[in-house]
Amino acid sequence: MRYPLAPLYCRPWTLNGISPRLIESHYENNYGAALNRLNVLSEEIEQLDRGKTSDQSLVRLKRDEAAALNSTLLHELYFASLGGDGRVLPDAVANAIAKDFGSVDRWRQEFVGIANGLAGGSGRVLLTYVPRDGRLINQIASDHDQSIAGGVPILALDMYEHAYHLEFGANASAYVAAFMRNIDWSAVKLRYEDAIKVAPPRPLEQPEFADVPSISAEEVRELLTSGTPVQIIDTRPKHYTSKAQDIMQGAVWRDPERLDEWIGTLSKTEPVVTFCVYGFHIGCGTASTLRKAGFDARYMAGGHFAWKALKGPVKLFE
Ligand SMILES: [Fe+2]
Repeated sequence: MRYPLAPLYCRPWTLNGISPRLIESHYENNYGAALNRLNVLSEEIEQLDRGKTSDQSLVRLKRDEAAALNSTLLHELYFASLGGDGRVLPDAVANAIAKDFGSVDRWRQEFVGIANGLAGGSGRVLLTYVPRDGRLINQIASDHDQSIAGGVPILALDMYEHAYHLEFGANASAYVAAFMRNIDWSAVKLRYEDAIKVAPPRPLEQPEFADVPSISAEEVRELLTSGTPVQIIDTRPKHYTSKAQDIMQGAVWRDPERLDEWIGTLSKTEPVVTFCVYGFHIGCGTASTLRKAGFDARYMAGGHFAWKALKGPVKLFE
């Protein structure tokens, strides 16, 4: 694959305090180098004689390729982040930032603080939309750990020295201030609108239990800490529990195959939470049966291991 060069997105002569010379050098020498490196690596990988190349060599090439690709993409985003007046945030962006950072000022303080903290070192500061949580986050990106997986960066500030040394020398904070003065917020808004169209990761679906309500392990923890009366039943199968060493504190174990024998011990006035090992089948099935018998029952999503992953308290299972 041959990666195409993106034309310079911002108009360098319009920038306030960042000269065309700095942008040109950055674009030509650093962005250009990253793109060329990427294409050389990509070609090298395509032409590898797999019979004669070790897996380790392939891994090295793929690492270098990922770094060059990230450098290319984020340089393009950096140049596309400039060209505005830095002050006027479209409402959609201002509201999104205020929702996720408290206020635009707080966002700005954090973003600038990270940038100044990187001065003299290297990396980038990105404003990134994370579809999983539907929120924006500031992140640091350096060569090999540039991206929040699945995140969509919408604003990039290049803090590699090559981005400012030519004109700002060691005065990185003046460069950061100049960057902030030139943010093209209307372009950020368009990228934000594109980013929020990315679907979050597909949630687990269990169509066979679609009509059985679930409760998260976090919610169960809250019920327990607040002292809300709730009957928690661990219905891990008997063959499994014979090997199990621990059980959720606050839960009692009941054999799911003998539900008829213990259903009469449950109270109908208190809600019931059932769970199994991973939350797939037996916990849901038990909750479903209990609901049909008139109990206010739900299954705990993720089961015993969701509770363990939350570091919820457990006790020895006897
Ligand atoms: Fe750069």
